[in-house]
Amino acid sequence: MCGIIGYAGGENSARAVDVVLESLARLEYRGYDSAGIAIVADGEIVQVKKAGKLQGLLDELDKHPLPPTSTAIGHTRWATHGSPTDANAHPHMSFDGRVTVVHNGIVENHGELARGLAERGIQPISETDTEIVAHLLALALADTGDLTEAMRMTVRELEGSFTLVAVAADSPGTVVAARRNAPLVVGLGDGENFVGSDVAAFVSRTQRAIEMGQDEMVTIRPDSVSIQTFDGTPVDRAEFHVDWNVDAAVKGGFDTFMEKEIHDQPSAVRDTLLGRMSPSGSLQLDELRIDESILRRIDKIIVVACGTAAYAGHVAKYAVEHWCRIPVEVELAHEFRYRDPVVSEKTLVVAITQSGETMDTLMAIRHAKDQGAKILAIVNTHGSTIARESDAVLYTHAGPEVAVASTKAFVAQITAAYLLGLYLAQLRGNKYSDEVVTYLDELMKMPDRVAEVIARADEIKALARDMKDVTSVLFLGRHVGYPVALEGALKLKELAYIHAEGFAAGELKHGPIALVEDGQPVFLIVPTPRRPLLHAKVMSNLREVSARGARVLCIAEEGDTAVDEFAHAVFRIPETPTLLHPLVSVVPLQIFALALATEKGLNVDQPRNLAKSVTVE
Ligand code: F6R
Repeated sequence: MCGIIGYAGGENSARAVDVVLESLARLEYRGYDSAGIAIVADGEIVQVKKAGKLQGLLDELDKHPLPPTSTAIGHTRWATHGSPTDANAHPHMSFDGRVTVVHNGIVENHGELARGLAERGIQPISETDTEIVAHLLALALADTGDLTEAMRMTVRELEGSFTLVAVAADSPGTVVAARRNAPLVVGLGDGENFVGSDVAAFVSRTQRAIEMGQDEMVTIRPDSVSIQTFDGTPVDRAEFHVDWNVDAAVKGGFDTFMEKEIHDQPSAVRDTLLGRMSPSGSLQLDELRIDESILRRIDKIIVVACGTAAYAGHVAKYAVEHWCRIPVEVELAHEFRYRDPVVSEKTLVVAITQSGETMDTLMAIRHAKDQGAKILAIVNTHGSTIARESDAVLYTHAGPEVAVASTKAFVAQITAAYLLGLYLAQLRGNKYSDEVVTYLDELMKMPDRVAEVIARADEIKALARDMKDVTSVLFLGRHVGYPVALEGALKLKELAYIHAEGFAAGELKHGPIALVEDGQPVFLIVPTPRRPLLHAKVMSNLREVSARGARVLCIAEEGDTAVDEFAHAVFRIPETPTLLHPLVSVVPLQIFALALATEKGLNVDQPRNLAKSVTVE
């Protein structure tokens, strides 16, 4: 939520405006209500900000270009406090015009702070909590004369969550940033340095980065990066390499990021599997700070996640319970946190998250940690908060996911969760290593199967064209097909703004079948006929809805002719073992949602009201 960039270039560098605008384009997926830029030039701050998409800001800058400079900050906003207007857009300038700041998060005590400022005659001109911070910074700067010191004084007064990035008129070449409960990463360049809300902000310019810890701040200058805690203790932290391919963050010839990311799915699965097997046949995790003896003793796994990531957890439950004989609960992170979950030292909490910054998931793992649980995170974004705060990390190698609706992260999350299941099964002696190898071999076949499905995208696009005017679509699945049905419905809701519901197929007759009337579109995810009992039950569901006039669209395996009699259309997927089915059966549903939204002329990459990374609770 909210994309932030700060840039400090060398004396001869005049390209700060270009750097920041390019970063904002890469960060726009984080929020697109408004965008803004501020520069320091000739002892003054100049800033331009516009409500609406980044293009609005770019058009304005075309008309009124900014002077060349080496110091700039920028912001793309997902509104929390105050509607998306020019005035509420970031950066926010202080009352004296000497400091400006961009912010991601919520300053919870902004009301009280605003009252304090009012007593000193300082009245805000926007409705945001951020503007209050700008005024506090200016007051502190007037006292100390040093932007870093002013930031340290200011953050001590703030409650809530924030990434703040500030520049001052009298400090060209200096950008100061601070973080609490919101993301911030430092990019290390050659004679230039960056801060950003994630590595996408600077990955086209440098792949060297440093993670920022909780309650830490950083001062970047062209030739130096200095990190300290909010109480002034210097922090010396090793850098890491961002292994994202820069090209992965551009559309690569596709009309939309989402379409490109759907096409990235075979490599997302392949790359997540890559290098996981050691020569001795054991599975490797990326960062394991949990003693293996603890993992042998765990008696329960709780998956915490939100949205699509939670559905990946639902899928994984079926495999992990089957392979490891450990009970797995899947819980929406925001629900987990606010009830009284039964968690002990023997519980392994698995957080699944693409961004690694989802606040609901972060709060859930902190809560679980307080109860003594061990935390293992399945994360896509290096340097993210959840990766850092977990006891172990298994990275999905999906590369940057830019489209707001998650696609390749989902298949990579399932793949990674399966690796985790196999690792635990091997460690705890539930599976012999040759059995694990057999499963891994099957997993290695999945990228090609996913590619086969994508190659037939035109069939599903034709179906979507035909269904442009539908107002409601139901999705049914059983076993691992159930979370796939939920994901299919979510994709359609968020992209095409159509009412869509996913159901466990067996649940239908307990109520939802009342929704089925003549012509009602129903997607049915049909399991492999090589699981005859499961297949037969889903066939019954197919007959039930078909008998009530539904227009049934089946996702079924090649050669499964049993569906032909009742289905209005059948989209074929390759023969695949039951537990791996979701990796192929979800793909036509993603393509369907994309195609329907495109038919309706909607913005596929940036659906209304949504943001990519939800960093508020
Ligand atoms: C749906 C979608 C969201 C995210 C959810 C969790 O397409 O993208 O439902 O899956 O907000 O986000 P992460 O995985 O970043 O924690």
